[in-house]
Amino acid sequence: MSTFTGGIMPVIMPIYGTRPEAIKMAPIVAALNASEDFDCVVTVTGQHREMLDQVNDLFGITPDHDLDILQHGQSLSDILTRTINGLDKLFAESKPDAVVVQGDTTTSTAGAIAAFYRGIPVVHAEAGLRSHNLFSPFPEEANRKITTQIASLHLAPTSTSKANLLAESVNAADIVVTGNTVIDALLTTVDKKIPFTDPALEELAASGQKILLVTTHRRENQGDAMRGVGRALARIAKAEPDLMIVLPIHKNPVVRDAVLPAIEGPPNVMVTEPLAYGEFTRMLSLAHVVLTDSGGVQEEAPSLGKPVLVMRENTERPEALVAGTVKLIGTDEERIVSEVNQLLHDPAHFDAMATAVNPYGDGKAAARTVAAIAQLLGTGRRMADFAS
Ligand code: UD1
Ligand code: UDP
Repeated sequence: MSTFTGGIMPVIMPIYGTRPEAIKMAPIVAALNASEDFDCVVTVTGQHREMLDQVNDLFGITPDHDLDILQHGQSLSDILTRTINGLDKLFAESKPDAVVVQGDTTTSTAGAIAAFYRGIPVVHAEAGLRSHNLFSPFPEEANRKITTQIASLHLAPTSTSKANLLAESVNAADIVVTGNTVIDALLTTVDKKIPFTDPALEELAASGQKILLVTTHRRENQGDAMRGVGRALARIAKAEPDLMIVLPIHKNPVVRDAVLPAIEGPPNVMVTEPLAYGEFTRMLSLAHVVLTDSGGVQEEAPSLGKPVLVMRENTERPEALVAGTVKLIGTDEERIVSEVNQLLHDPAHFDAMATAVNPYGDGKAAARTVAAIAQLLGTGRRMADFAS
């Protein structure tokens, strides 16, 4: 990693700010650092703090620039304006040859806008995901559509996401199907069997007890829906004393206030701080069933053959839905209880969902990303697309 000096090699600046972006950007940073063609200058916004630093620490990334924007209770506009202002000051001093933004967070779209306004080409990793509902997920569906409008290079994880971009008249020559770098991150992490920091989790791993792994954070689920998730977990814990529910809870106090009150009593619910990525992927590999509203977890769990119940009404990731490992169940309390119950007690249903599929990547997405950037800058050629 180098300082931002604008040397002879083209300077590529990955910009990211939240946990999922960090996980998905880490393989790109590693591939850029390994390349002899580029100077990689990492900028983080700090939209997340602890959850971002946790990922950078795991992957050995020391950001060159840190805008440190997090404010508790931050509004979307706080994140947008603080990111754009911080980046604009940075770009005024020296401009990278291209920026890479990832996905659909507000950091990602703000990074794209700040670069676009300064005439810097925007590379959009994980381009073309669409739920086709502007308000769900909110604000992510709008964020990714805005970024599409101003990106120079669109890195679609799958052929479905490429088709979404083509349907919006994006030039086919500007789209590369790379696979999702989350699979690169998963494959380099999950087999390491990283020890759990919390001895109780290590004991649980050794016990062989069935695990229901739960994560929740989506903005549109906050409030009543999330309180219902808490009540559903309490009911499942009571009805299934042999099951252990593991809930690494998001740092957002709004999430904690909604979910935690209902699950304070039962002994078979373990609430933990966010797990470092290596520990989380190990927990994923130990889980029997996954219940989540996360985007990244929907991509990782199918490749480990874990049935995933998604607490959302729609998804921009239809590939694993089609493959049958993911089921959309919404956030209704009764439905969550009955869907988990069916997976626990109907072996045919469980077996039908517990099939390992890899629609999201083959572990070479970061290499395709770097090759595509080389083609954009005229220094190399793109690799063959990921065949999804
Ligand atoms: C953000 C992204 C969402 C992504 C999610 C991943 C936007 C609009 N939302 O949502 O797309 O799916 O990250 O988790 O970009 N907090 C901390 N420490 C942390 C992280 C969060 O204290 O390390 C707390 C802060 O009080 C903060 C709150 O969580 O105000 C919410 O964080 P924010 O980034 O605004 O939204 P997320 O719901 O995390
Ligand atoms: N994750 C993690 N620790 C946890 C929970 C999740 O490292 O305690 C990882 C998970 O493996 C996935 C990513 O965080 O790669 C998903 O992040 P999140 O659910 O916060 O955001 P989303 O993917 O929904 O945008």
